[in-house]
Amino acid sequence: HHAALTIDPAFRVGDVDPRLYGSFVEHMGRCVYTGIFEPRHESADDDGFRGDVAALVRELGTPVLRYPGGNFVSGYTWEDGIGPRENRPTRLDLAWRSVETNEIGVDEFTTWARRMGSEPMMAVNLGTRGIDAARNLVEYANHPGGTYWSDLRRGNGFAEPHGIRLWCLGNEMDGPWQIGHKTATEYARLAAETAKAMRRMDPTIELVVCGSSHQRMPTFGDWEATVLRETYDLVDYVSLHSYYEQRGDDRGSFLASGANMDRFIESVIATCDHARGVGQHRKRINLSFDEWNVWYQSRFPGEDNLDWGERPRLIEDQYSVVDAVVVGSLLISLLRHADRVRIACLAQLVNVIAPIRSEPGGPAWRQTTFHPFALTSRHGRGTVLRVEPTGPTYETSWMGEVPVVDATAVRDESGVVTLFAVNRDQHEPVTLTVDVRSLPTLVTGEHVGVFDTDPEATNTAGHPDRVTPTRVADVKVADGTVTAVLPALSWNMIQLR
Ligand code: AHR
Repeated sequence: HHAALTIDPAFRVGDVDPRLYGSFVEHMGRCVYTGIFEPRHESADDDGFRGDVAALVRELGTPVLRYPGGNFVSGYTWEDGIGPRENRPTRLDLAWRSVETNEIGVDEFTTWARRMGSEPMMAVNLGTRGIDAARNLVEYANHPGGTYWSDLRRGNGFAEPHGIRLWCLGNEMDGPWQIGHKTATEYARLAAETAKAMRRMDPTIELVVCGSSHQRMPTFGDWEATVLRETYDLVDYVSLHSYYEQRGDDRGSFLASGANMDRFIESVIATCDHARGVGQHRKRINLSFDEWNVWYQSRFPGEDNLDWGERPRLIEDQYSVVDAVVVGSLLISLLRHADRVRIACLAQLVNVIAPIRSEPGGPAWRQTTFHPFALTSRHGRGTVLRVEPTGPTYETSWMGEVPVVDATAVRDESGVVTLFAVNRDQHEPVTLTVDVRSLPTLVTGEHVGVFDTDPEATNTAGHPDRVTPTRVADVKVADGTVTAVLPALSWNMIQLR
């Protein structure tokens, strides 16, 4: 097997917005409680946040964190989560049939996120609530003082405004499972009026309007068009959500998830630009892929079959080497569209389909998927360069013919070029030849990868480092060419300097 590509700094896709490496903290399962927050844990800080989890969050590198949902937000009363803890109500959360104690709310989360080096991305409830609750929350969070809501925040011990710039207008409002689900027209009007009020409250904010919950929704495309017709001038981004899993033994299709993500992104870009043309708008609407991951959804019993519980174990998927390769390839797809996808959130951050796992009173560890994410977040900063790999293809039942090797390249400010590549061949290595003649300063490179003789291998509390990145080889530039061998079923990062 042999594949080839050319890296040329003249062919720029766009600059990477660091918010492409966001994640998501929902009040769901054990993401918040016993995930990021566990006052009785031996590593807890004075505010009750776990130090071991915090260290992993910083290492993961998530410049933006979406909060507090997810389906949860569509039934959420944000005022329940402010003020003295002893006065906060315990409520039933209908999204996940769980008991919500409200120990964590907007003040604690925002403070913690900033400590993690992350900007909060706050969602408002457009399921059971609307304009009033949303504009009050913006006032509470962002207004300096001298008004009812801003003085309430000050009285709660937060003298400085939280300065939350990025807001989501609800969550998955096209989904029949959503509390307060709406038709496109109903949602479009509510989103427009809520956006107007929030912007008047604070003109510096950016807004994400709900696109479709996934590509297979019956309203996909029409939903975005209807919503953008009403909201175009009032919003900045449209959201995309997508989860991937292996169906049966069809691993070849699962490994092609990136091709599906490409198609989804390109369809939404087309719809945004259609709305731009029809409405004769000047600005472009960009994309916020604010929920994406591998999720074995077929194993989820369904919301209606959950028992009321406090911090229940929900969708704590344990990820394999294959899952890590897919997560790495989904990051390649996001990077390839960096000119239009400005924000993306790996859903979720801890325990709930997450790169970080933790046990109550026990350890925290990195899942397999942590590694490609952390390395891409750290090194995939700068300008994305267009690469057009040539090489073998294979046939999948889901996505048709797909290339065996998928890749993208990012050049940072100092001129270091990082190539991210997956080999989807499950049995054979691929020799990759990279033409770097237009980058004569590059002389050497380091190649690391995530792969294993056992593609099902996972990391667990007992064996937290069973799967880690492997140093493959040092590569050299000879006659303007780099040659690297991509192991079978692997995610790879080759840094050239
Ligand atoms: O991330 C889990 C759930 O997936 C979110 O709450 C929802 O928005 C999506 O359906």
